[in-house]
Amino acid sequence: MSSNNSMEANNGNNNGDDEKKQEQVVCVTGAGGFIGSWVVKELLLRGYRVRGTARDPRKNAHLLALEGAEERLTLCRADVLDFASLRAAFAGCHGVFHIASPVSKDPNLVPVAIEGTRNVMKAAADMGVRRVVFTSSYGAVHMNPNRSPDAVLDESCWSDPEFCQREDVQIYCYAKMMAEKTATEEASRRRLQLAVVVPCVTVGPILQPSVNFSCHHVVRYLTGAAATYPNAVAAYADVRDVARAHVLVYENHGARGRYLCIGTVIHRAELLRMLKELFPQYPVTSKCEDEGNQMVKPYKFSNQRLRDLGLEFTPLRKSLHEAIECLQRKGHLPVVTVAQQRACL
Ligand SMILES: NC(=O)c1ccc[n+]([C@@H]2O[C@H](COP(=O)([O-])OP(=O)(O)OC[C@H]3O[C@@H](n4cnc5c(N)ncnc54)[C@H](OP(=O)(O)O)[C@@H]3O)[C@@H](O)[C@H]2O)c1
Repeated sequence: MSSNNSMEANNGNNNGDDEKKQEQVVCVTGAGGFIGSWVVKELLLRGYRVRGTARDPRKNAHLLALEGAEERLTLCRADVLDFASLRAAFAGCHGVFHIASPVSKDPNLVPVAIEGTRNVMKAAADMGVRRVVFTSSYGAVHMNPNRSPDAVLDESCWSDPEFCQREDVQIYCYAKMMAEKTATEEASRRRLQLAVVVPCVTVGPILQPSVNFSCHHVVRYLTGAAATYPNAVAAYADVRDVARAHVLVYENHGARGRYLCIGTVIHRAELLRMLKELFPQYPVTSKCEDEGNQMVKPYKFSNQRLRDLGLEFTPLRKSLHEAIECLQRKGHLPVVTVAQQRACL
């Protein structure tokens, strides 16, 4: 991603002049994670002074290697459940990007997501922060068994909290939905400007040293570690688009409320076909757990609000290609050539 591209996407509607960005300090919670790292990179390329929070900043050395980091990035220790640490992190900040949240199926994540978000909003208001960008999830949007298959998924849709709570695997969706509602309530109570980015399954090259949950989603099919795939559809976005979306909604004065960040909605079978075409040398999962039944159809969706701000979505094929090449380069995937694979047959 070049800084030129980043600037072009700005749509000319700045939250402050470009020259003043050098003086503007913004804080990113969960700076060292998959999405957090790309948001930090995008902000540095656009000239901001960035303060990144982590529970253990020593694990975030990869951020210090980013362009502009030496001059304009500082890392500080903060936990979203430790209010004092958040107040210290937000001191002197104009904006906060609240990205930190556990990504897991552990029910203990619910209080961390919800109370962590409440703490972030309270600390931001206390410290005079003006604008907050909150990272939600499409798990807060699409998990509703009563939604018509013909309905267009957009910012007005909400998941069904009772359905999410009933299904153990959907506890993450419940936590994100409740955290988003908490962010919205606290913002209006405390007169904070809030914009919410709603990413879906996010893929693309990683900057951090370890493989995060959503990239693992692709790896387990590529390597055949998943014996079967479900008869299900999912929405995908490129991590660089998700990062740009965060900065676009921050920089556009009038941006408020939710922004759905979805590039593509496809059936898992289609995703795996794409992977097999791109990397035929890997034993990509090929068996559906629901063979013989009718395949679920992809639903319609709208990403118009972000496109109106100037975001252009990366094709999924390109995101997957660059994600896998990056994981190979970083040693997370064996580099298997087509010739080696044939020799094993
Ligand atoms: N990737 C996706 O497909 C996707 C889709 C939709 C929404 N999201 C949302 O995007 C955000 C980032 O996700 P990701 O995919 O980048 O995951 P990730 O790489 O696992 O990053 C999660 C981040 O949250 C931080 N965190 C977790 N618990 C924390 C706590 N108690 N206090 C402070 N920080 C804490 C972690 O910080 P440490 O470095 O301290 O561990 C880490 O930096 C999350 O809010 C997630 O819900 C992700």
